[in-house]
Amino acid sequence: MIEVAKRLQNVEEYYFSKKLREVALLKSQGKPIINLGIGSPDLEPPFKASMLLQDSLLDEKAHQYQSYQGLPELREGISSFYKNHYQVHLSSQTEVLPLMGSKEGIMHISMAFLNKGDKVLIPNPGYPTYASVTKLLEAKPVFYDLKEGNNWEPDFAALERLDLKRVKIMWINYPHMPTGANATNKFYDKVIAFGKRHDILIVNDNPYSFILNDKPISILRYKNAKDVCLELNSLSKTFNMAGWRVGMLVGNYDFISAVLRVKSNMDSGMFYGIQKGAIEALKCSEMWFKSLNSVYHRRRALVWKLAKGLNCTYDEYASGLFVWAKLPPHLKSEEFTDLVLKEHSIFITPGTVFGSNGEGYVRFSLCASEEIIEEAIARV
Ligand SMILES: Cc1ncc(COP(=O)(O)O)c(C=O)c1O
Repeated sequence: MIEVAKRLQNVEEYYFSKKLREVALLKSQGKPIINLGIGSPDLEPPFKASMLLQDSLLDEKAHQYQSYQGLPELREGISSFYKNHYQVHLSSQTEVLPLMGSKEGIMHISMAFLNKGDKVLIPNPGYPTYASVTKLLEAKPVFYDLKEGNNWEPDFAALERLDLKRVKIMWINYPHMPTGANATNKFYDKVIAFGKRHDILIVNDNPYSFILNDKPISILRYKNAKDVCLELNSLSKTFNMAGWRVGMLVGNYDFISAVLRVKSNMDSGMFYGIQKGAIEALKCSEMWFKSLNSVYHRRRALVWKLAKGLNCTYDEYASGLFVWAKLPPHLKSEEFTDLVLKEHSIFITPGTVFGSNGEGYVRFSLCASEEIIEEAIARV
């Protein structure tokens, strides 16, 4: 018997990987499933980005291995993007590392900084990958509470009371997934001071700052941030390029070069055409963001109607690609989503996928057309 490694014994298959198989089975049995579960943008990428990808196939070096650090023009594009949209100055030579999506960055950062037995502060609720990667590396997740009453921000007094001795990394993610909460200026100052005080690397995972959000924020804009912070960002949601796999890591040279030491031993560069397309996407004008958000505004208004139809409540000021909705008292998230799937053939995500503090909530994705959401409303 060939046994899998011990580290896999604490890591389950990703919820969506399992659930989408079940949903596919229902579909194959003829059920008219509406999928409002997953956040995979269904809109088109910028036209010019797709054209550049296509045209670049004939370039001389298009099919060769690429630099581990990406094309210089891509790093420059990322640096300009940060200057234009976040007012953050980054050296394209030393403070920018293109990634194949931000998800891989979570693994690379963790591999660069964690030893077995180290601890990692992880938001509850939060993106499940932070905890699974931590466990894969035999480090220990320490979940910190995010509560609606505190606008889904951590309680720093409670954090200070923890045993922080072996904590190496703290994951934060604003605009927050799944709740859509935005953080205040005060929060960013506090978390940077916390990281400095305890020698903890603060990583802000920032893929949603352009979705239904008027004021995109980078943690690197704040004082002293470069001393203790890294930021992940992504083209997946901002430019509807989730399947392309393009993201970025930004921050100070020492941290970036540690991550590059891991990454350069794991892949052999990003496909040339994808980098060319990404460079073009990053140049999009304000018009792109306006028209993207006008679609999401209309969809969100419909999803609110759907949520109301299911007796749920929600925060109208939230950002991001989802509506995070509160169930009527005493209802359990998974029972509720299973029932909605069974009765209405609508797949939505139970809040508990994101941690125990997601109990009593569900998450609706905005990655479906208005017609589809209207059909869902008609069903409930
Ligand atoms: C909070 C958060 N971080 C990171 C990711 C990964 O995005 P990507 O790897 O496509 O850049 C996602 C995707 O759903 C996410 O919700």
